[in-house]
Amino acid sequence: MNKKTILTGDRPTGRLHLGHYAGTLRRRVELQEDPGFRRFVFIADLQALTDNAKNPGVVRDNVIEVALDYLGAGLDPAKTTIFVQSQIPELAELTMYFMNLVTVERLQRNPTVKAEIKQKKEMGGEAGVPAGFLAYPVSQAADITAFDADYVPVGEDQTPVIEQTREIVRAFNSVYGDTLKEPQAMLPGVKACCRLPGIDGAAKMSKSLGNAIYLADDEAAVTQKVMQVYTDPLHIKVTDPGHLKGNVMFAYLDAFCINKHFAEFLPDYKNLDELKEHYKRGGLGDVKVKRFLDKILQAELAPIRGRRKYYEARKDEVYQILQAGSAKARETAGEVLARVRRAVGVDYFK
Ligand code: TRP
Repeated sequence: MNKKTILTGDRPTGRLHLGHYAGTLRRRVELQEDPGFRRFVFIADLQALTDNAKNPGVVRDNVIEVALDYLGAGLDPAKTTIFVQSQIPELAELTMYFMNLVTVERLQRNPTVKAEIKQKKEMGGEAGVPAGFLAYPVSQAADITAFDADYVPVGEDQTPVIEQTREIVRAFNSVYGDTLKEPQAMLPGVKACCRLPGIDGAAKMSKSLGNAIYLADDEAAVTQKVMQVYTDPLHIKVTDPGHLKGNVMFAYLDAFCINKHFAEFLPDYKNLDELKEHYKRGGLGDVKVKRFLDKILQAELAPIRGRRKYYEARKDEVYQILQAGSAKARETAGEVLARVRRAVGVDYFK
């Protein structure tokens, strides 16, 4: 059996939204059907605590929310091991070994971490950066390597973190001998999905920016948000030519619209290119495009919302899924850590 391992996770700091879904969640569900892979998906509660140490309740509450989003999106515990990061103490141990192979300077240069620190400062957060936050790429390297992961499906913004994991693996292997596997980021196939903008036109959909459409949003909330979506400020009259650049309506269509949606919901056009051409020419109003987008998103979200509701009424069962997944994940991490301890030379009492 030579299966490749796929592993990824999410911080439980809020419910998951369309950005997560388009970026990696949808892909993870598709990959479930491929027998060539062993799959782990986990809730990164320890990583969430690196910048929420004083709000442990938020993290705790969102562990179950994210689990509900996973199950709603269609992750199947029989095909994907779903676990909780804090339940795998081996990850903390591996992080300790890695810490000594990374410089503070290198962490400070990590573009993802830099951008996150900048955003926190701009939002008037507390002064100072928690050491744990600066070092989260190190703990993330442990999350990945403790399962011998080959592929890590992540959004584009996480690629510097995966790059740093690869550096850590190379450093570890060169010091202690060939022990750990070097993973690869697996980016969304469609460019448009890499980073979904917020409904307000901000570059990124995010909970902290308050511009997200959540998987758990009800039908009315989705419609209301779609109608608010930032489009083209120069497209005032229907007859005005419209612009696609920075137009969130079209960014979402790029991520979610397929040709069959036209036959189903907007038969005047054959495909997205035709719709875009008409918009650019002028004569196509935003509201018409938004109604179309709304239908597409409702069709995508309705089954997710339905499954989510089912599990919402059965939270005990969800916790059992997480517990069983964590036990299984721990077995794998335990095997890798035995190898690591031998390599580092701390296996004193054989
Ligand atoms: N940093 C990721 C995020 O913010 C979450 C994460 C933690 C992760 N550990 C991981 C992702 C390991 C992939 C692999 O969404």
